[in-house]
Amino acid sequence: MKKKHIILGIESSCDETAASVVQENDQDIPIILSNIVSSQVNVHKEFGGVVPELAARSHIEKIDLITKKAIDESGVKFKDLDAIAATAGPGLIVCLAVGLSFGKSVASSLNKPFIAVNHLEGHALSPKLNSKLNYPYLLLLVSGGHTQFLSIEGLGKYKRLGTTIDDAVGEAFDKTAKLLGIEFPGGPKIEEFAKKGDPKKYELPKPIINKGGCNLSFAGLKTAVLKISKQIKTNQEKYDLAASFQGTVEEILNKKSKFAFEEFKKINKKKNNTFVVAGGVAANKKIRENLTNLCKEENFNPVFPPINLCGDNAAMIAMVGLEKFKLKQFNNLDYPAKPRWQLDENATFLKGSGIRL
Ligand code: KG4
Ligand code: ZN
Repeated sequence: MKKKHIILGIESSCDETAASVVQENDQDIPIILSNIVSSQVNVHKEFGGVVPELAARSHIEKIDLITKKAIDESGVKFKDLDAIAATAGPGLIVCLAVGLSFGKSVASSLNKPFIAVNHLEGHALSPKLNSKLNYPYLLLLVSGGHTQFLSIEGLGKYKRLGTTIDDAVGEAFDKTAKLLGIEFPGGPKIEEFAKKGDPKKYELPKPIINKGGCNLSFAGLKTAVLKISKQIKTNQEKYDLAASFQGTVEEILNKKSKFAFEEFKKINKKKNNTFVVAGGVAANKKIRENLTNLCKEENFNPVFPPINLCGDNAAMIAMVGLEKFKLKQFNNLDYPAKPRWQLDENATFLKGSGIRL
C-alpha cells in the first residue's frame, strides 16, 4: 500500500500562532489529524489592533508548545512526518520570522524537507480540506489584509482579475467595529449588531461600483462610517449603522463578483464553473448567503471553507505543503520571510494614488 504522507504546518504571519498535522488520503481530501490555533486577541485588544512586537513576542512564547500540542493530538510522532511547511509571507516580518525559523529548525533537526508556503495560497486552497475541488476555479479572497478576485488554474498558477485599490474588506469591518466601540477584532461582532439594525437607515457610498471591472474600493465607505459614527447616540443607531455597513458590503461584493464571473468566463471556457470564497470575512453568514444566491442565478457552483477554516490556521498551510510535497517543491533553509508576496507575481501593484480604472 502506498504511504500516506504526513505534513506539519506552522503559521505565525499575524496574530494567530498555529500548528497542524495533515495526512494525505485516497479521496484527495487530506485528513486533518490536528489543528491548533492560539489567538492573541487578549494581547492586542486594548490597543484596538495588532501590535507587531507584542505579536512576535507572543509567537516566540507559544510556538513550541502549540507545535507539541499539534503533534500530541495528531497521534503521530515527529519521526513520522514527511515534511515541515511554514508560512513565509505575506505578513508582519517580525511575526513571520518566528514560525519560519521554527519550521526550518524542526525540518533541519529531523533531516526532513522544508516547504515555504504563501499564506494567501493557504486561504486560496483551503476548501480543499473538506471538498474535492478541481482547477480552474474563481476565488474571492476576503481577509484582514486582502480583497482579490483570482483565477486559480493549478498549484502556483494564479491570475489576478481584480483587487482592492485601497483598504481590504476585513479592515473596513474592523474599523467600523472600532468606531462603534466594539473590541478588536470586530468583524464577527458587526455581523451580530447588523441583525438587530435597519440596513436602509444610512445611505453609504459604494466607491467604483460601476467602473474598474472587478477592482474594489472600501476607503470611502470607511470615511462615511467615521462621519456618521460621530453623531450616533443610541444603541439602536449603532445597530442601524452596522446593518447599513453590512448591507453595503454585501451589495459591493455581489456586484463585483458578477463582474468577476464575466472575466473568469472569458479566460476559462468550462461549462461547470466554481466560485470559492475564502479568508476571514468568508465566515460572515450573510455574505455567504448572498453570494450563494448570486451563484444560483449565474450558474456557478459556490464553495466555502468550513467556518473554522476561514480565519488563519495552520491546516491550510500544511495542506499546501502536502500539495507541494507531492511535486517535490522543497525549499532551502535560507528561504527568506517575505512581508509582501503576491499570489499572481505578474499583477501590477494597484494601491495608492494615480491608478487608472
Ligand atoms: O484571514 P484572516 O483570519 O486574517 C488575515 O489573513 O487577514 O481574516 C481576518 C479578518 C478580520 O478583519 C476579521 O474582522 C474578519 O476577517 N472577520 C469577519 C468575520 N470573521 C472574521 N468579517 C466579517 N464577518 C465575520 N463573521
Ligand atoms: Zn489570513
